[in-house]
Amino acid sequence: MSITSIGENRQKITTATLAEKKSRREPITCLTAYDYATARLVDEAGIDLILVGDSLAQVVLGYDNTLPVTMEEMLHHTRAVRRAVKRAFLVADMPYASYHIGVKDAVINATKFAKYAGAEAVKIEGGQKRIDVVNALVDAEIPVMGHIGLTPQSVNAMGGYKVQGKSLSAVELLMRDAVALDRAGVCCMVLEGIPREVAAMITAEVSTPTIGIGAGPECDGQVLVINDLIGMTFHNPAKFVRRYADVGAVISEAIQNYRADVTAGSYPSDAESYHLPKDTAAALDDVLARKRVIR
Ligand code: KIV
Repeated sequence: MSITSIGENRQKITTATLAEKKSRREPITCLTAYDYATARLVDEAGIDLILVGDSLAQVVLGYDNTLPVTMEEMLHHTRAVRRAVKRAFLVADMPYASYHIGVKDAVINATKFAKYAGAEAVKIEGGQKRIDVVNALVDAEIPVMGHIGLTPQSVNAMGGYKVQGKSLSAVELLMRDAVALDRAGVCCMVLEGIPREVAAMITAEVSTPTIGIGAGPECDGQVLVINDLIGMTFHNPAKFVRRYADVGAVISEAIQNYRADVTAGSYPSDAESYHLPKDTAAALDDVLARKRVIR
């Protein structure tokens, strides 16, 4: 397989690049990736930020929501992605319960991503409620990506996946969360599942870059789950998903063709088989001929 780089500027993306992009009003591109091959394609296509999201739980591991995914699973997939990524800024999602129990625990878990999995930042969900954790991580020299709005780890507390920030009080709360994260020094923040007007206000208010998912076009950047973008999911996509390919259908057709060929005996062909060297084949013919004579 040949993978062609789009040949654009291959300069490494850092926290400084993200800030520069915001100040130049240059959109930041972000996608999730969970394995080596996909991460290579995403990186070589020039995406700025790669997130090993805990959406891994649903799209790769088949769980119902993000709550069950473990530190070990997130570390394992972050390492695979790390081996692929050369240019993009690599962020690992801290899974549920890895930063909810205590600040010390959160720092220990975050350092595992930085030290043993090569993550350049970690993402945690929540605003003011998690400020102590954010402060401690920033103190430990670990850049933090914030995440507010529809935070999937709060699915039970929220009573489902619902657009957040629809009432005046909810807008005010979101703005307070965003400002708190900004002041705490996050390197960027995800705004998920909120009205476009609210995301625009937050983006104008905070100095940190905002990365939207279901938050409209005024954010400083956009993120999507790669499986949604390429059509590798088994559910109806959310309103904000734009599907750029139907890779699921391509894979399905390839598998059906393979199955049909094996069943019909047309795979593998002679050209797809290995052969004995000529002298070994001749010697083997001799041996078999002698055996036939003896019998
Ligand atoms: O886990 C994830 O993929 C995410 C993104 C959708 C932001 O948190």
